[in-house]
Amino acid sequence: MFENKTEQEARFEILDMVGSYCDIYHKKARYKSGDKISYAGRVYDRDEMVNLVNSSLEFWLTAGHYTEEFEKKFAEYIGVKYCSVVNSGSSANLLAFIALTAIELGERRINRGDEVITVAAGFPTTITPILQYGAVPVFVDITIPQYNIDVTKLEEAYSSKTKAVMLAHTLGNPFNIKSVKEFCDKYNLWLIEDNCDALGSLYTLNGETKFTGTFGDIATSSFYPPHHITMGEGGAVYTSNPLLHKLIRSFRDWGRDCVCASGQDNLCGHRFDQQYGELPFGYDHKYVYSHLGYNLKATDMQAAVGCAQMNKLEEFSSRRRANFERLYKSLQVVADKLILPQAAPLADPSWFGFLLTCKAGVDKNKVVQSLEKNGIQTRMLFAGNMIKQPCFDEMRLNGKGYRVVGTLENTDILMNATFWVGVYPGMNDDMIDAMSDAIISAVMTEME
Ligand SMILES: Cc1ncc(COP(=O)(O)O)c(C=O)c1O
Repeated sequence: MFENKTEQEARFEILDMVGSYCDIYHKKARYKSGDKISYAGRVYDRDEMVNLVNSSLEFWLTAGHYTEEFEKKFAEYIGVKYCSVVNSGSSANLLAFIALTAIELGERRINRGDEVITVAAGFPTTITPILQYGAVPVFVDITIPQYNIDVTKLEEAYSSKTKAVMLAHTLGNPFNIKSVKEFCDKYNLWLIEDNCDALGSLYTLNGETKFTGTFGDIATSSFYPPHHITMGEGGAVYTSNPLLHKLIRSFRDWGRDCVCASGQDNLCGHRFDQQYGELPFGYDHKYVYSHLGYNLKATDMQAAVGCAQMNKLEEFSSRRRANFERLYKSLQVVADKLILPQAAPLADPSWFGFLLTCKAGVDKNKVVQSLEKNGIQTRMLFAGNMIKQPCFDEMRLNGKGYRVVGTLENTDILMNATFWVGVYPGMNDDMIDAMSDAIISAVMTEME
């Protein structure tokens, strides 16, 4: 088949066919009334599939040139100095946290028993790294309808053991960055932004509008399919601090000291002439471990898909915003029965989803079941109140391992009465309208 062809010609032919295959067999059927409406989905075309196959044909497999390209593109787009691709958003959170436990950070290092301020309303892996390390999450209530930390409780949450604040921008809605940053600056605390659900969200601080993920010390993203862009599985950790970047890379790559990329040797020129720990002088730097690390790298195939997705991010974000606006307007008629979401002051969210809280007299379970029966996919705000989850049974019983500031009244309301539906860029106006009709009808019927 490829007789008399160069490798490049053969590859071009394959990729051309892959592009046509995608155009023909992955073409999305137009939405028809009555079709199921998912809360999220992959939005892609031939660009992603061609990149993916190209990377497979190269067969480098581990992190390579696509990974480098993605890290550069992502950092430039969002406005940070350094980005590290990892294999999931959860790995990204683990890395962001564990980097702050490094000895190099001196007094500011997070030690076991130190406290990290966060919320219980959200995704579990924003807080699991804190607990797994032996630090103490301090849970503060949220406000509704912003679904982010109640910043009026921050001072009460502070103790002499507080070292960091680690928070997600809930479903794309930035938390009150202004107040949280002022609090962190006042007490010299680290700020980790879990930006997994908020890529493309904007916030204006001191007159400057920037993307979320650029305000704290470290931020994280997830590229699991429902997210703002996807790699299948994947994530990123980003920072503008060179020391934190070095630590992130070390913990990501087995804890090693050496910064050579896969397949690279002796970048620093000192591979065999240094003293490390109590190792023999000149021990191969490639095998020197300055931290107890992990391997959280992703493959180049994932990054290849991500590179193509990055070119679509701007368009995805505007579609998310438009879908949100349309749904928001049409649901005004049930605003006396459902609490509609509200963007934080100074924020322009790229919404991950549309949060709705049932007011008194409206049964969330009935509304959700009616929507699901009518083909509208719904989701909970993940763990609801994390402390009520079975994984907290032991800690709850012992009353150890975490701390609660005051009550988590709104977090419980969220757990009992809140759900969300999608606004992802694969949705068109017809789908938004059908979803809105179904929500209105479900609420009205429930009230009868
Ligand atoms: C806020 C938040 N953080 C972290 C994650 C974890 O990301 P991943 O599924 O890629 O591990 C998620 C997952 O959706 C999330 O919503």
